[in-house]
Amino acid sequence: MSGVSARVRVRSGVPEAALRVLAGAGLDAAVGPLEVAGCDALLCLLTDRIDAEFLARAPQLRIVANMAVGTDNIDLAAARARGVAISNTPDVLTDATADLAFALLLAAARRLAWADRYVRGGGFDGWRPDLGVGLDVTGRTLGIVGYGRIGRAVAERARGFRMEVIWHARGGGVPLDELLGRSDFVSLHVPLSSDTRHLIGERELRRMRPHALLVNTARGPIVDEAALVRALREGWIAGAGLDVFEREPALTPGLADLPQVVLAPHLGSATTATRDRMAELAARNIVAALRGEPIPNRVV
Ligand code: GLV
Repeated sequence: MSGVSARVRVRSGVPEAALRVLAGAGLDAAVGPLEVAGCDALLCLLTDRIDAEFLARAPQLRIVANMAVGTDNIDLAAARARGVAISNTPDVLTDATADLAFALLLAAARRLAWADRYVRGGGFDGWRPDLGVGLDVTGRTLGIVGYGRIGRAVAERARGFRMEVIWHARGGGVPLDELLGRSDFVSLHVPLSSDTRHLIGERELRRMRPHALLVNTARGPIVDEAALVRALREGWIAGAGLDVFEREPALTPGLADLPQVVLAPHLGSATTATRDRMAELAARNIVAALRGEPIPNRVV
């Protein structure tokens, strides 16, 4: 970048696409483990905990660009107090994440993870009317909790399945209790904050219908996982499709023993093109910050 010498740190694991954007702007980046001392800009991952103590290690830090739409790994108040900009990567991952939410919904409804284990295990000895029966998706009611970009994209997919879509958000929709009581499927799309931690706990799970399924591609701590394990064991609900976990990557004991749960390792945005777009967007936020231009995806 002409006239600007800046130290940019890129967390190892970030796709190379980010480095190409930085190089195109004349910025050399040091790639390696999470470190910030001496840096002007940091491109980090959602698994990196960026707290006040961490930020204090880099007095000249101008921006932390998170390669994620969620920013719950970052102490935003501490960043604001230090004058460090924080950016995220919205939009570019909306479709991939909505696709995965729908994949989990279908997989849980039609018992695909169980079916795969069954066939591989040599259990399949012929068609039977009662083998692997699941829940209809077409025409059923989908309750979407959080109606932002990803929630709306899930609703679009549901329309192709002629589902009735109801939604709940802070600013509107149906009350959460009504949504839980009416839905055959509940899909979570709220960001994690102190307001949404354990938004779905014992009380809410008990309000769901016994044949209903819960899908979570948002953040694990939105669901009280111990209550979810009880709900599944005791039949308050019928199943779940989970891409995120309360103490990720650890699983609450008992969760993995439940055959009616489909588990994925936080794959919402995991397509090659999407991950490249996230890396590029994060890098573009850094370039803008270091040039003193408006940061396109500024959160703080
Ligand atoms: C993924 O979970 C993200 O927040 O981008």
